[in-house]
Amino acid sequence: MHQGLADVMERIPVSGPSITQKEIDYVTDAVKNAWYGNANMYHERFERAFADYMGKPFAIALPSCTSAIHLSLLSLGVGPGDEVIVPDITWIATAAPITYVGATPVFADIDAQNWCLSPESFRACITSRTKAVIPVDLYGNMPDMDPILDTAKHYGIAVIEDAAEAIGSEYKGRKAGSLGDTGVFSFHGSKTLTTGEGGMLVTDREDLYRRALVLRDHGREPGDLMFFNSEVAFKYKVTSMQAALGLAQLERIDELIERKRQIFNWYKNELDGCTFLTLNSEPPGTKNTFWMVTIILDKGYALDKSQLMQRMAQKKIDCRPFFHPLSSLPAYRNSRNAQEASLRNPVSYGISPLGVNLPSGMDLTQLKVKYVCDTLMGTLAEASPNTLLIGSVDPCQD
Ligand SMILES: Cc1ncc(COP(=O)(O)O)c(C=O)c1O
Repeated sequence: MHQGLADVMERIPVSGPSITQKEIDYVTDAVKNAWYGNANMYHERFERAFADYMGKPFAIALPSCTSAIHLSLLSLGVGPGDEVIVPDITWIATAAPITYVGATPVFADIDAQNWCLSPESFRACITSRTKAVIPVDLYGNMPDMDPILDTAKHYGIAVIEDAAEAIGSEYKGRKAGSLGDTGVFSFHGSKTLTTGEGGMLVTDREDLYRRALVLRDHGREPGDLMFFNSEVAFKYKVTSMQAALGLAQLERIDELIERKRQIFNWYKNELDGCTFLTLNSEPPGTKNTFWMVTIILDKGYALDKSQLMQRMAQKKIDCRPFFHPLSSLPAYRNSRNAQEASLRNPVSYGISPLGVNLPSGMDLTQLKVKYVCDTLMGTLAEASPNTLLIGSVDPCQD
C-alpha cells in the first residue's frame, strides 16, 4: 500500500513549549535547593525579572491567569451589583472571575481586523454600574488601546489588561500587559512562556499590589510569622519549581517571541496568495507575537471550524476552534445580558464559526508548516463543489 507523508509523520500538536537545558538546570536546582530558608529564592528572582521586563514596580507570580484576574477584581473592589465589560470573543477565564466576585460580565463586540475588544462597542456597553473593563490581547494581537483607555478614564472605569496570550506584544511601543491598572499573564503549557500552569499580575499601583498579596495568602500580611489571618481569602501560590522554570523561560523571552514570529511568517509565506482566508493581522503601531496562528475562512465556505478541524485531525494535524462568543455558551446564554449580546455583536458571531487556530507549537519546523498548509489547501479543495464556491481545484491564487 502507498505510504503518504501523513502515514510516517508524527501527529502535529496544536501547541507546546520550547524547553532547553537551561530550564532543566533551573528546575533541578530548585528541587534540590529551594527549601527551608531558600524556599522563595526562585519566586523572588522570577517576580523581580518579570517586573523589570515589564518596566513595572510590582509583579506577583500566581498559579494561573484566572487567579490573577480574580485578585485584580477583588483588589479593585469589584463586587456584587457591578458590571465588568469583556470582549465576547475570549477564553472563559477572562469572564469567570467576574462571576466569582458576584459581579456581572457584559459582552462587547470585537473589532473585525484585530479580533480584540472594539472601542465603540465598549463605549456602547457602559452603564452607571460599569466598574471595570478587561480588554484581551487575543492570540497575541492587541486592541486599539488608546480610545479604550481614554473612555475608561473618562468614566472612571478600571482597566485589567488580559495579556494571557500576548507576552512581548506591543501597542505603540508599550508592552502588552502594561497599559491597565493591572496586567495579567498566563503561563499555561500552551503559552509562549510557560511554567506548566501559572500566571502573573503586574501593576504600577502599590495599593493593588499590597491588597493582592494579602488576598493570595489566606488573608494574612506578607511576612506574617504568627499565622494570624485578618480575613478569609485565597491560597494562590506557585511552587519554586514553577518559578525556576518561569525564570529560565523569561531569560530566553526574546528568542521565544522571535520563534513565534518566525512560525507565523512561515505560514504567511505559504498562505499569502490565498484570497479566501484571513490570517492574524498586525495593525500599524502593533507588534503581534502570534501566540496562535489563526485563519478565518471567507463566508463562501460552507465548511465550518469543526468540520475543518475534523478533516485536519484525520491527517494528524491538531487544530483548535476560534473561541465561541461567550454569550453563546451554555455557561452564559440564558442570562439577559448574554441574549442582548448575541443581538448586538455581529462581528463576534460572524467570525467565530469560520475561525481555526493552526498548529503553533514551538517545535514546529518549516517543513511541518508546509505540510499543514498543503493539507489545509487540499482539504478545502476536496470539500464538495458546493462548499468550494470559488470553484477551483487549487484554491490558491498563485
Ligand atoms: C485570554 C485568556 N485569558 C485568561 C486565560 C486564563 O489563563 P490560565 O489558564 O493561566 O488561568 C487564558 C488561558 O488560556 C486566556 O487565553
